[in-house]
Amino acid sequence: MKKKGQKMIFSGAGMSDIAADLRTLVDFEEKRIPLKELSRLIDRNLVPHLMRYDSPGFQSFFNAPPERGAALGARLALRHNQGVTNWHVSPGGAMLEELCCRALCRLFGFPEGADAAFMYCGTYANLQALYMALHRHAERCGFNLAEKGLAGFQGSAPPAVAASEQAHFSLRHAVRTLGLGEEGLISIPVDANHRLDIERLDETLDAVKKKGRQEVFCLVATAGTTSTGSVDPILPAVEACRRADIWLHVDGAYGLAYSLVPEFAPLFRGYEQADSVSWDPHKQLGVPIPNSLLFARRGRDFDRLAIYGEYFNRRDDPHPNPGLKSLPSTRPLSALPLVASLRHQGMDGVRRRLRAPLRAVKKAAERLRQDPDIELVNEPETGVLCFRIVPPGVPEPELEALQRSIYEKARSDRTRSISITEVNGKTVLRLVAVSPRVTEDALLETVSVLRRWSRVLRGRRGSSGG
Ligand SMILES: Cc1ncc(COP(=O)(O)O)c(C=O)c1O
Repeated sequence: MKKKGQKMIFSGAGMSDIAADLRTLVDFEEKRIPLKELSRLIDRNLVPHLMRYDSPGFQSFFNAPPERGAALGARLALRHNQGVTNWHVSPGGAMLEELCCRALCRLFGFPEGADAAFMYCGTYANLQALYMALHRHAERCGFNLAEKGLAGFQGSAPPAVAASEQAHFSLRHAVRTLGLGEEGLISIPVDANHRLDIERLDETLDAVKKKGRQEVFCLVATAGTTSTGSVDPILPAVEACRRADIWLHVDGAYGLAYSLVPEFAPLFRGYEQADSVSWDPHKQLGVPIPNSLLFARRGRDFDRLAIYGEYFNRRDDPHPNPGLKSLPSTRPLSALPLVASLRHQGMDGVRRRLRAPLRAVKKAAERLRQDPDIELVNEPETGVLCFRIVPPGVPEPELEALQRSIYEKARSDRTRSISITEVNGKTVLRLVAVSPRVTEDALLETVSVLRRWSRVLRGRRGSSGG
């Protein structure tokens, strides 16, 4: 039951009720709707069914409410030049994007010569990074991937990417899209805290080499995994990639932002030596989607993406052209919301905003560690807390079903949103804190609600003889 004063996180309605409310919005052959009326219709029929990312109870995914500076930047981009492709489409936009990319390279400590490009999302940033890595591999094999495609690898071992078993599924999209197939994604086991196991990495790379049936050209280390927020050991990964002479991509889509917080920075040490790094300001920074970046330690690696045209993106054009560093021609002016957000908060404000949820998660974990009915599944390194509710006396096979039932019950709750994931083959409950509104108290309150449901569910099962 909803406590008095507790804010609803969404209507709680089910699929058929939501579909019924929305149908009128997609009656495209109906008569036109004046703006005021349309606004009322959307407020009434859609908004209650949207999730409140600004609620302390939103503890399920990496979405944050828009930061005020970012929202201002997004409004201004929409009003003026929402698209920035090159100088001729938006001179100020193209210049702002280039300056922003260089300034971010400095902020994150990449070496001289590094560069970045705005992307639509972390998935595309990872895909492009792997494309750039594959391109370099092809060059080392003596041909140009852009011209010959995968046929150029005929006669050599099929190229493969290695990543931990906790890496994001966007890498599966990447190897599929690049034509390597999922067999081209080699899985490395993880250590006790779900980070890439560096010893097993060396073993795996050696074994693949000895067999000679595949050739690993790239390792992906994850700086903040999706399931548990764990940070792979990046510096040892840098060294392993140097020894093996392969490309290192760091997937920092979720976690890289936390390297800006001094007390968390040591976890991320070494990312600036990777060949490429992805980052999503549209996650915890609250910059409107799409806002994502790909960094390259050698900015010239982006040259592999450039396609010049006659009427557009001419080779002899001296103006800044961020559109040559990625695939899309039509690209949003994502630099403006990001710049506006960072300048509005100041870096001290940004660090405070990032630090708060990380501390909340760590403190909540410390409190829960004492509780006999809670089994912590991860030692939180960033903003994700995974655990199981393990009431004394409940046998292991029933615990799996219990976590699932608790989650099912949580799905209909109108005051909080949580998630589940699988760790070491077990279903676990997962709480995420990205916005500063998700405090230690908010997390602990969720755990007590889940406990209460666990008791009710077990009581029901007991009374039905199950
Ligand atoms: C580690 C990691 N990489 C990549 C992605 C994909 O990012 P996007 O959702 O922006 O495509 C995510 C998304 O959560 C992620 O957590």
